[in-house]
Amino acid sequence: MSAPKKLFIKTYGCQMNVYDSERMAEALGGNGYVETKTPEDADMILLNTCHIREKAAEKVYSELGRMKPLKDINPNLKIGIAGCVAQAEGEEIMRRAPVVDLVVGPQSYHRLPAMDDAVQTGAKALDTDFPDDDKFETLKARSKAKRGPTAFLTVQEGCDKFCAFCVVPYTRGAEVSRPADRIIREAQELVESGVREITLLGQNVNAYHGHDGGLAGLIWELDKVDGLERIRFTTSHPNDMDDALIDAHGTCEKLMPYLHLPVQSGSNRILKAMNRKHTAEGYLRLIERIRAARPDLLLSGDFIVGFPGETDQDFEDTMQLVRDVHYGQAYSFKYSTRPGTPAAEKPQLPEDVMNDRLQRLQGLLREQQIATQASMVGRDVKVLFEKAGREAGQMIGKSEYLHAVFAEAPADVIGTVRRVRIIDDATNSLKGELLSQ
Ligand code: 5AD
Ligand code: SF4
Repeated sequence: MSAPKKLFIKTYGCQMNVYDSERMAEALGGNGYVETKTPEDADMILLNTCHIREKAAEKVYSELGRMKPLKDINPNLKIGIAGCVAQAEGEEIMRRAPVVDLVVGPQSYHRLPAMDDAVQTGAKALDTDFPDDDKFETLKARSKAKRGPTAFLTVQEGCDKFCAFCVVPYTRGAEVSRPADRIIREAQELVESGVREITLLGQNVNAYHGHDGGLAGLIWELDKVDGLERIRFTTSHPNDMDDALIDAHGTCEKLMPYLHLPVQSGSNRILKAMNRKHTAEGYLRLIERIRAARPDLLLSGDFIVGFPGETDQDFEDTMQLVRDVHYGQAYSFKYSTRPGTPAAEKPQLPEDVMNDRLQRLQGLLREQQIATQASMVGRDVKVLFEKAGREAGQMIGKSEYLHAVFAEAPADVIGTVRRVRIIDDATNSLKGELLSQ
């Protein structure tokens, strides 16, 4: 038997890309590939790219520049571009970078094995269709190999919201939900491989409609899966937080008290210009209702500063909303012009104004994050242990609130949920003491 071919995948961007990279590796497994962590060994290199903010394509070209000499060492090496840059600019990349053999969009990667066959004959392969066939059904069942206790599971892709700044509706296409029974089957397969916590993924995951009861209905189905102990989901739009989902946060024990609910801005004028279709007050009322259902919920969010037309007052409104909500953690970005989106046509704000605002917002969000983390000291949490720490005898996992927690513990805690008392606040993690159950 010939030695297996080696596949190196570099993943950029969101968790959905992490999931896609796993599935692409499994698909190419059928063509005899095994994964390697070193590009120098590889017979196939795939860059799974992200297009959400600027410089995405430049990053791809400079990475390709670094990879090019590897073809001199291994003349059989094939290089492919996957993900959202492939979708948006694949043909251009193919034209400009002869080193690229293969371009595959996020909706076509079930066709990778056939594309690999083609490039092995020396041909080029490009597929950025939004095909009718369901890629998840075409892909093989998940591998049964033993894996770590946490996993991502994509349940919904694409977005119909068309926020004025965002490329997702163009790169990932219209919203599509996977049928609930197939998701349950995949969850069962993951649990058989050792998974205890599943994070349901979608660009607009709470718009999931593959179950009559929406995302809450799916969560309740997953609640029945034996051996699955924790459920999370990301990322959500405020307008899709329906009553059943809010209620599930209070009543479903497996659903973790952590919610990523981006608002982007605290100014109604800017929210309107962003085409968000909700107001700051509406968002605050929603947060109140979710917190009434689950008072200890840790909230996370996304913010954009410097959207075209954002005034000092608009920015102050964002700062005020952040003070009103108090986030446990959040992401914030400078507005980045995306070709083809409605906001790209508008006059841009000066860079220094955006930099100042970003710095102030990040300062406030950091304060809130530090305060939230410090408030955990003295509390008892439940930790799903994932792996051994750097120091001997130390194990690391995540609390319900997604804080990283480390504690002295025997190795057999890995893959189990244990009670832990938080005794100290380290910079990016919490120190805990294992409690008897
Ligand atoms: N510029 C800056 N940030 C953006 N995001 C999406 N598009 C842009 C853009 N053009 C941010 C939003 C979104 C997160 C995934 O990325 O905050 O919620
Ligand atoms: Fe982009 Fe999210 Fe808006 Fe959809 S809801 S357009 S993915 S920011």
